[in-house]
Amino acid sequence: MVTAALQYSAVAQAVVAGFARKPKRLPSWLFYDETGDKIFQSIMRMPEYYLTGCEYEILQMHKTALREHLVADGSPFNLVELGAGDGFKTEILLHHLTDQRVSFTFSPVDVSQSVLSQLVERLDKSVPGLVIHPIHRKYHDALDFFAGDALRKVILFMGANIGNFTVEEAVSFTKSISATMQQDDQLLIGFDLKKDPRLIQAAYDDPHGITRDFNMNLLVRLNRELGAQFQLDQFRHYPYYDPESGMTKSYLVSLKAQDVYFEALEKHVHFDRWEVIHTEVSQKYDLEMIQQLADKSGLAVVEVFYDCKHYFCDVLLANSG
Ligand code: AVJ
Repeated sequence: MVTAALQYSAVAQAVVAGFARKPKRLPSWLFYDETGDKIFQSIMRMPEYYLTGCEYEILQMHKTALREHLVADGSPFNLVELGAGDGFKTEILLHHLTDQRVSFTFSPVDVSQSVLSQLVERLDKSVPGLVIHPIHRKYHDALDFFAGDALRKVILFMGANIGNFTVEEAVSFTKSISATMQQDDQLLIGFDLKKDPRLIQAAYDDPHGITRDFNMNLLVRLNRELGAQFQLDQFRHYPYYDPESGMTKSYLVSLKAQDVYFEALEKHVHFDRWEVIHTEVSQKYDLEMIQQLADKSGLAVVEVFYDCKHYFCDVLLANSG
């Protein structure tokens, strides 16, 4: 048993651990294989997925104010971006900082190698002179990487990536970020805000079926990478926004009682009829929740930057000590 476990890939381990839970769970980093990256890029382009446009607007409108904070005493800094993705929004800031001759290096961190390579290739052309140190890791593992770094850090955790954590998980993750922050380091977090529940619901249950494909791609990935035998038409995408907690949960629902064989695990996994796999959390915040997160993480809110509609905000945080 022990030797078999040691031979499991990271994906296999995640599936074994996640399917042992009730309800069954899959971690959200699993979404981002090559196909998942592409589908997520289509999600960001659909009108129902307002988040991307809002944060783009925030960076456009507030880049000068933001730069003034980040530059601080003018000492060079390392701009670390956790979950950089395709960098479409960050590029605004990178352009602005280089145009203003700010002295910094850029360290994008992402779990997806393909997305990182794309990003570096594009930035090499579009932001000449930018020094880039791409880091192919999950964000947790990246934190250790920067912990001992002497250079001043500005950490970006944008795009509502923090929403993939529950509120409790977000506190412990933000604490672990704050533990790596030296006195003058700063942290910018992007939060999707509570709003008309129907707008939020539509962002995760779009009429084009793009978000469905994104969620179903998990099963495609398990079929390919673990030799699983999921029949895609026997599962259904179901996202659900709860305006009370602010949590959107996404599920894959089994349409019948079924046993799915996994070659790589040499076993069947059983699903009852209507049993769910919980595949994602997309947590929405209000200002009180953000303030609490900051307090519990030993950080102080320096400034909150909003888009015009106040659908989204990027919050600048610093050590409160
Ligand atoms: C990348 C975590 C911000 O939760 O809104 C989009 C991922 N999932 N549609 C989000 C996602 C379904 C997204 N984040």
